[in-house]
Amino acid sequence: MIFRQLFEPISSTYTYLLGCQITGQAILIDPAMPAWERDLEVINGLGLKLVYTLDTHIHADHITAASKLKQMVGSKIAGPSLDKLPCTDVPLYEGTRLQVGSILIDPLHTPGHTDNHFSYLADDRIFTGDALLIDGCGRTDFQSGDAETLYRTITQKLFTLPADTLVFPAHDYQGRRVSTIEQEKTRNPNIGNRKNLEEFVKIMQGMKLSYPKFIDYAVPGNKACGTCPPDVPENLQQYCESMGVSHQG
Ligand code: FE2
Repeated sequence: MIFRQLFEPISSTYTYLLGCQITGQAILIDPAMPAWERDLEVINGLGLKLVYTLDTHIHADHITAASKLKQMVGSKIAGPSLDKLPCTDVPLYEGTRLQVGSILIDPLHTPGHTDNHFSYLADDRIFTGDALLIDGCGRTDFQSGDAETLYRTITQKLFTLPADTLVFPAHDYQGRRVSTIEQEKTRNPNIGNRKNLEEFVKIMQGMKLSYPKFIDYAVPGNKACGTCPPDVPENLQQYCESMGVSHQG
């Protein structure tokens, strides 16, 4: 499998490129709007053709590039079936494998950060979205988040994967790129080292997190599979523009 981890700096989002060496087909997991041209350049540079975009959940901090990429190269939009978005071309279900050339992807329902959140397992690696981050996890205090649900997701679903499974999250704000299930089980400060449910909920409730500045535009935009709402204020336009575009021209 061809694999690239791509970073979008405005929202600190990781986008993952998975390519099949045999068929030349590629998928992107969690592509972000400002980076769609960069992502296509990487795909084209590798001689691949984008056939699917997959989102892990309805993001609150950036707008997915799913629709833009569909418009540009005809890729199909795939995502959690539970979201029931009319713009999704291929709804994904836990237990139903997605095959793209030689790439096999098993969707896992991993609720807690949002209720319909999915993670994607591909061979030796899991793309955990915001359910499990490196030394952390996604917040549970907005959208449809629930700390008890996330505790069950992480301890009963993600932590039961093989210890050496590579963990690739949707974000990192400190330049970390990859972890493993064993590493998160051992040292994740929120939930590692056998923290119990009570301890985890207390940690999540004790986080003093500010209201996400782009959420009011990102959520409706992502429910439309990546449409920038027309009323995005100028100071947030960078979330919708291509990387490198400046207001000064
Ligand atoms: Fe999120």
